Amino acid sequence: MVGMESDTWSVVDSWFAERLRSPDDALSAAVAAGGSLPQIQVSELQGGFLTVLARAIGARRILEIGTLFGFSTILLARTLPVDGRLVTLEASEEHADIARANLDRAGLGHRVEVRVGKALDTLPAVAKKMSPDRFDLAFIDADKQNNPHYWDWALRLVRPGGIVIVDNVVKQGRVIDEGDNDPDVVGARALTEAVGRAVAQGRVEATALQTVGSKGWDGFAIATLLP
Ligand code: SAH
Ligand code: DHB
Ligand code: MG
Repeated sequence: MVGMESDTWSVVDSWFAERLRSPDDALSAAVAAGGSLPQIQVSELQGGFLTVLARAIGARRILEIGTLFGFSTILLARTLPVDGRLVTLEASEEHADIARANLDRAGLGHRVEVRVGKALDTLPAVAKKMSPDRFDLAFIDADKQNNPHYWDWALRLVRPGGIVIVDNVVKQGRVIDEGDNDPDVVGARALTEAVGRAVAQGRVEATALQTVGSKGWDGFAIATLLP
């Protein structure tokens, strides 16, 4: 039954993607070049959600944590104006190399800085370099157990009115199972509690959006920083 449902979710995803998302040679080439890496990039429609948000707020500076082979990076970088910048943080040198090649092929290399290293190690330098200009949008999509730390950084690095999006917070509903000690699930739960504290403090307005589709059942946490 679950299998049948998720098959349907994929078919419906494709139906919408065929109608709403343009054929995209750069993205197809990026996926092909990332063939040896885990295929855990955002879906086409989820990518569209990110880019609609980025364009709607007129993002000029974007921070991404978790590059993989640059699928979401390409999508987000394309939304930027000519003087826009995207900084993406990736722990794996191999992933970063493939992502850089994909970004260059997409004609976006000049707008994107791929920083190699564990994000908690590279974020301090990003913070130092970027001030006083803050980011308009942060997309958090790396190792889930560090999500509470990435959230704290995002609160510092994103401007009031900017948006923070965190991927994979639902994990097929496992997030609400207190007995589930998988580090990714624990990270999703801790992230949600941390966002909730910021909500209670009046620092952000936030929500969570459950998603089904070609990647199964998961979801995003989304917050905007209040002035
Ligand atoms: N955002 C990408 C998918 C990212 S997958 C997309 O949608 O296209 C998660 C990535 O985070 C992997 O490439 C993994 O190597 C990277 N990662 C894992 N731990 C990390 C860390 N501590 N710091 C930075 N990147 C990390
Ligand atoms: C998986 C999916 C993701 O979006 C991610 O960032 C990491 C892992 C997964 O399905 O395993
Ligand atoms: Mg993800």
